[in-house]
Amino acid sequence: MRKLIEPGMYPSAGSSPVGKAVTHDSAAMQVSGQAQYVDDIPTVPGTLHLVLGLAEQADAEIVSVDLTAVRQSPGVFDVVTLNDVPGHKDIGPVFPGDPLFADGRTLYVGQALFAVAATSEAAARRALASARVEYRAGNPVLDPVQAWRQGRLVRPSHVMQRGDASAALEQAEVVVQGQLDIGGQEHFYLETQATLAIPQEDGSLHLYSSTQHPSEVQKLVAEVVGLPLNQVAVEVRRLGGGFGGKETQAAAPACMAALVAMRTGRPVKIRLNRRDDMRLTGKRHPFVGQFRLGADQSGRISALEMELIGNCGCSPDLSDAIVDRAMFHADNCYYLAHARVSGHRAFTHTASNTAYRGFGGPQGMLAIEAAVDDLARRLQLDPYIVRMNNLYDTDQRNRTHYGQELEQFPVAEMMAKLAEDCQYHQRYQAARAFNADVGNGPLRRGIALTPVKFGISFTAQHLNQAGALVHIYTDGSIQVNHGGIEMGQGLYIKMAQVAADAFDLPLECIRVTATRTDKVPNTSPTAASSGADMNGMAVHDACTTLLGRMRAFAASEFGVDASAISFEGGQVIVGQQRFGFAEFVQKAYFARISLSATGYYRTPLIHYDRARAEGRPFFYFAHGVSCSEVEVDIETGEYRLCQVDILHDVGRSLNPAIDLGQIEGGFVQGLGWLTTEELVWDEQARLRTDMPATYKIPTIGDIPVAFTTRLLERADNPANTIHRSKAVGEPPFMLAISAWCALRDALADLAPGNAIPLSAPATPEAVWKAARTLQAMAVQAQGAAK
Ligand code: MTE
Ligand code: HPA
Ligand code: MOS
Repeated sequence: MRKLIEPGMYPSAGSSPVGKAVTHDSAAMQVSGQAQYVDDIPTVPGTLHLVLGLAEQADAEIVSVDLTAVRQSPGVFDVVTLNDVPGHKDIGPVFPGDPLFADGRTLYVGQALFAVAATSEAAARRALASARVEYRAGNPVLDPVQAWRQGRLVRPSHVMQRGDASAALEQAEVVVQGQLDIGGQEHFYLETQATLAIPQEDGSLHLYSSTQHPSEVQKLVAEVVGLPLNQVAVEVRRLGGGFGGKETQAAAPACMAALVAMRTGRPVKIRLNRRDDMRLTGKRHPFVGQFRLGADQSGRISALEMELIGNCGCSPDLSDAIVDRAMFHADNCYYLAHARVSGHRAFTHTASNTAYRGFGGPQGMLAIEAAVDDLARRLQLDPYIVRMNNLYDTDQRNRTHYGQELEQFPVAEMMAKLAEDCQYHQRYQAARAFNADVGNGPLRRGIALTPVKFGISFTAQHLNQAGALVHIYTDGSIQVNHGGIEMGQGLYIKMAQVAADAFDLPLECIRVTATRTDKVPNTSPTAASSGADMNGMAVHDACTTLLGRMRAFAASEFGVDASAISFEGGQVIVGQQRFGFAEFVQKAYFARISLSATGYYRTPLIHYDRARAEGRPFFYFAHGVSCSEVEVDIETGEYRLCQVDILHDVGRSLNPAIDLGQIEGGFVQGLGWLTTEELVWDEQARLRTDMPATYKIPTIGDIPVAFTTRLLERADNPANTIHRSKAVGEPPFMLAISAWCALRDALADLAPGNAIPLSAPATPEAVWKAARTLQAMAVQAQGAAK
């Protein structure tokens, strides 16, 4: 057996792994194929495989469902519909609206009607083909603006305001008015939704689920099958990506598997195939942003009026909070003396849209960035100047439209620094010269430098809590457990770093074990980028408790003052004596000192009064700036991202290697949202882009040729977070807005003075159309001038 800790083995005190670029703990297992996901867990003989029958029409009355032939199909053991659910039939996470299976009327094409359990997935799929479902066609609503006008909402509208926006707009020298269509986004996690439900000897259930929210899966499964929560355990070692898509929507497959497991007494596995996953589950909310932005001739903004209409799909899910977050980010980095931001939650007959990296923030931010871009075009100013002149500061212009004061706002310095480092100004002028040179044929260049400010905390206050459980074993090795989910973002390695630092032990001494509801209960989803912040503090708290117990023991055992006891470099120093950590732990064990402790954290200071739309919903903000340059062929609409430079604020990084990965990955995922990823539904509400053949996520070839990412130096967090780090999961996603603005910039010279008619995603087709429109406008303007 390898001895982990011997006296003198790790003598270098101050060798804390916190802040070091340590490799992801799963990296080697992932590249070698050893890393286990739900689908890789070996199943016992007798395990059933579940496949879903999905609705083929939206808003249709289900006249009859004949599953006789399905039941008789070879290998089939069970077939379930809503009628077979013994407990709760609705699994809406916050508000009702999500029946486990369709209830009389279909909500969307792809909604689950029934589930078939058979001895193999192939057998279940074969059986599926013999289902006979009769529909009476309905009249699906697909346009969120029309739905909003007709009052078809999944939740009531909400307004945040300061000052008097309409009066200020009356007085503004310049008003730009516009509408922006913002597309949704498929999560496209590599691992689709999956659960393995295993009935236990005593009628309880153990589930392996690919969820970001094990405690919610536990609760919903318990309610659906009619068990108390202590009879259901959910375990998650890692996800093959979640990106928000597994915050609430991992629950339905889990509940279905649990239901059949309880009925048959057999283990049941469900793993959606890609197409079913894309049809069944909700996506990023498409939004429509309507705005009126008022400013003076110099481009100084005085007022904003904005309507944000979120396409929520067929149920509330998390849409209340998502549209709120869009509203919270409708200022991005700009001080709006007068603002009226309204958020609407439109119902449509599509899958219920859900959390997705940024949680509405990107949509709100894109809307204000489009408005600012329009303003710059109208005034024929460099958009960088307009952005710079409207930033918040920490002095007079330091309060958001919902009343939160900015304690720290490094964005002006970050923009200036990045502009200098990547030579924005020279390249902006060079793009103008390039575009004026007819010798360049149909090619046009554009560049943009845009900022991001993203609020960190769940806006639902009660979710801002976390727990941990830390064990020290008698050989000195340590096991850490916490409520967070590893989904590729490096949470586990960060938690190991925090624990290793607390005891001043090498990382190898710490093992972080799979997240389980029976180890740390009542957890929040790993979401809102708060995983490392909150679980890090909880782990730290547990370690502090253990250190306290060991210190007290040392003080009484050796009669030394507490100040003479320290844990350093794998050793425990007690006055003049030194012990190896393991040796000391042995002594503590024999003295009957408890070597296991829970840890807990609740985020302080946050409060928000939604009725008044005022407060401090965010513990702090993360910031970033990015600059993108593109080259566009206006005759085909094709383009290339030539260069991207990023400067991002992660406070004092817990792990710069992980953080850089989050920034680059977030940027590229945002790039996909704004450029290549287009969701298309036909008039019958069928999703036509339900396969990788028709839905295009970014590929290696879409990654910028020159891509430089730097962490903000000497960064700090004014809020008391774990080692003064900052959340990094979601904020960098919005850095991709610079690429979208660069595309607009490339088209701007076609018809100076005009807003660029380019929405999101800016696919080559959309870019081509925008170029055509602008060219026609220029011809018209010339004609008028003659
Ligand atoms: N990174 C990877 N590799 N995989 C993911 O699924 N999810 C993102 C982000 N980064 C995700 C990711 C989202 S939506 C969130 S909220 C955060 O990670 C969650 O993790 P954290 O709170 O630990 O940062
Ligand atoms: N962000 C992400 N997920 C959430 C939030 C949030 O603010 N609130 C509830 N779930
Ligand atoms: Mo992330 S959208 O908060 O899971």
